[in-house]
Amino acid sequence: MVKKEVVVSGIRSTGVLHLGNYFGALRNNVRMQEEYHCFFFVADWHSLTTHPDTKGLSAGVHRVLAEYLASGLDPVKSVLYAQSEVPEIAELYLLLNMLAYKGELEKTASFKDKARSQPENVNAGLLTYPVLMASDILVHRAVKVPVGKDQGQHLEMTRNFAQRFNHRYGVEVFPEPYAFNFGEDLLRIMGLDGSGKMSKSENPASTLFIADSDDEIRKKIMKAKTDSGPTAPHSAKPDYIENLFLLMRLTGSAAVEAYETAYAAATIRYGDMKKQLAEDIVAFVSPIRQRARELEAQPEVLDGVLKSGAERARASAARTLGEVRKAMGLVYR
Ligand code: TRP
Repeated sequence: MVKKEVVVSGIRSTGVLHLGNYFGALRNNVRMQEEYHCFFFVADWHSLTTHPDTKGLSAGVHRVLAEYLASGLDPVKSVLYAQSEVPEIAELYLLLNMLAYKGELEKTASFKDKARSQPENVNAGLLTYPVLMASDILVHRAVKVPVGKDQGQHLEMTRNFAQRFNHRYGVEVFPEPYAFNFGEDLLRIMGLDGSGKMSKSENPASTLFIADSDDEIRKKIMKAKTDSGPTAPHSAKPDYIENLFLLMRLTGSAAVEAYETAYAAATIRYGDMKKQLAEDIVAFVSPIRQRARELEAQPEVLDGVLKSGAERARASAARTLGEVRKAMGLVYR
C-alpha cells in the first residue's frame, strides 16, 4: 500500500468561517480528505496570542468545529481535533523555539501587524506564533498545507525550521511542507468594499460569514463596491468587479456567463448582477449554516469528534516526538 501524504491545516478558534476561508482553504480541505491523510484542527493556543480572555474560547472551538463539519469535513476520513488537546505540539514548540531567531521572528509580517494593532499586548506568544504554527505542521510531518496566500511567509519559516532541525541534528526527521490548493493558484477573495481580503478583523462589514442570515448576506452584497460600469466593450475588469464575478463562479451560479457577456458588451447592470449574486450566495451558504447550528446544539456529537480526534492526533504526534528526542539525544534511559 502506498502511504498517503500528510496534510495539516488549522483555523483559529476566534475565526468565524467566511467565504474567504471557505473558498481559500476549506473547500480544498474537503476534497483532500479522499486522497491524503488529513489533520484539521482548531488552533485555540494561537487564539490566546490575541485573545487572552478565555470566556468565549469553548464556544469558539465548538462553533469552528461545527462549521468545519457542516462544510463537509468528515471525522472518520480526517483527524479533527483541538490543538490544546495534543500536548506534544507544545513540546515540539519548546524545542523549535531554540532554533528560531528573534530577528527573523520580529521581521514576520503577521507579527508586525499584530504588534501595531495591539501595542498593549506584544507578548512572546505573538512573536513565536510562526514557531507554534510550524509545530502544528511538523508534528505530523505534513508535506501539504492548504492555506491562503496570507500564510505563505509562515510556511516558508516552517520550512526553514524543519531544515535547520534536520541539519543541526543530522537526521531527516522533518519533510518540507508547502502550501497546496489542488493545482490552482491560492484563491484570495477580496472584501466587498474592494479594500483588501475578506477578513473578520479587518473588514467584517465587507466579509460574508457562513453564520450570516440570508438578509445580512443580501444587504452586504447590495452594498458591495461597484462603479458606473465599463464604458467600452471588452474593457478589463477592476479587481472589485472581478471579485464579484469570482464569487458568482464559485457558488456555481448558472447566470455567470450571461453577466460575462453583458460585461464584455458594456451593457451590464450591476444592480441586477448583485441581486442574482445575493441569491446565489444565500443558496450556497444557508444549508451549511443550518447544519452548523444543528451540530452546535448537539454537544455530545462534538465531544465525540474531539475525543477521537485528540487520540488519533496524539498517536501521530507522539511518534514524531519520539524521533525528535532521539535525533536530539534527549533520551536518558
Ligand atoms: N495561522 C493560521 C491562520 O491564521 C492558522 C494556523 C495555525 C494554521 N496553525 C496552522 C494553518 C497550521 C495551517 C497549518 O489562518
